[in-house]
Amino acid sequence: MSKRRPSYNKYHVLLKSMMSIPFFAMFIKLFFKRKYPSLVKEVCGIEFPNPLGLGGGVDVDCEFYNKIGNAGFGFVEFGSVTPLPQEDPMPNKGIRHAVERLRDEAPNVIIGANICKNAKTSKENAPKDYEKCFALLYDFVDMFIVNISSPYSESVYELQDVELLSEVVDRLLGMRMYFDLYRPIFVKISPDLTHSQVDEILDYCMRSGIDGIVACNLSKDTGSDLFEKNIAMVRYIKEKTKGLLPIIGSGGIRTPEQAKQMLDAGASLVEICTAFVTKGPSLVRKTLKYLDNQSHS
Ligand SMILES: Cc1cc2nc3c(=O)[nH]c(=O)nc-3n(C[C@H](O)[C@H](O)[C@H](O)COP(=O)(O)O)c2cc1C
Repeated sequence: MSKRRPSYNKYHVLLKSMMSIPFFAMFIKLFFKRKYPSLVKEVCGIEFPNPLGLGGGVDVDCEFYNKIGNAGFGFVEFGSVTPLPQEDPMPNKGIRHAVERLRDEAPNVIIGANICKNAKTSKENAPKDYEKCFALLYDFVDMFIVNISSPYSESVYELQDVELLSEVVDRLLGMRMYFDLYRPIFVKISPDLTHSQVDEILDYCMRSGIDGIVACNLSKDTGSDLFEKNIAMVRYIKEKTKGLLPIIGSGGIRTPEQAKQMLDAGASLVEICTAFVTKGPSLVRKTLKYLDNQSHS
């Protein structure tokens, strides 16, 4: 059973229209993009200009990564992208479209590909869907985020069961050995998992060679405070793995102070989605300035 995912509504439409205006992205770059040497950070062998990224669900169709990157992000995720185009519950134009976009416009920002299976693909065929996205995108992106935690698609969400997860991810790890360049693989989990479910996933990640965790996606429990829930998960993962598994902290970050708290809780990198769509590029600049100031104090 899948529910229709909410949309960022009018703000998202506005953002997309603005990104399509010629010279708008140039304007954003001039006013917002700055270098912060104090914020440069190496994670999983990638040198990030700063730890603040854009999370999945905003540049779904891989169309604005460079323009959005001009806001000053340290990395930009596109997707979730699925092998075939789909309307529901995570609408996207499919993998072919994403590959064409990346061929047409080389990224000038660190790019994460958020990959997922089509909602209609059976459990048994799920690994093939992820494999297809992984293989086709490998030469174009810097890292992968394996989305197995969409609260709007039960057939995606159930892949958090470690047996199913390992069937998906072992195949990706196996394929990676045939490529010359190393692309880190992060698994994006739900904040609703119990500690014992998280322990199983962490145990699998540490054994298998998964590079990191995105903690976390949206919650199924819409009444809870997402920031509090997700930062608690970041703390838990950091403690359980003794800091050995890089974490991308995500969920409910609305202010520069919250971004800092997420990093202090154990995240190596952080992502914003909703707050970027509603508040725009000024939030990126404010956050980076704040983190820069804090690093000197
Ligand atoms: C409208 C919307 C669409 C989203 N689409 C995706 C998606 O396609 N893939 C994914 O991994 N996460 C998706 N997410 C989850 C975000 O990437 C992020 O994990 C979550 O919104 C929490 O961060 P935030 O509070 O900064 O928005 C979506 C979230 C929203 C609100």
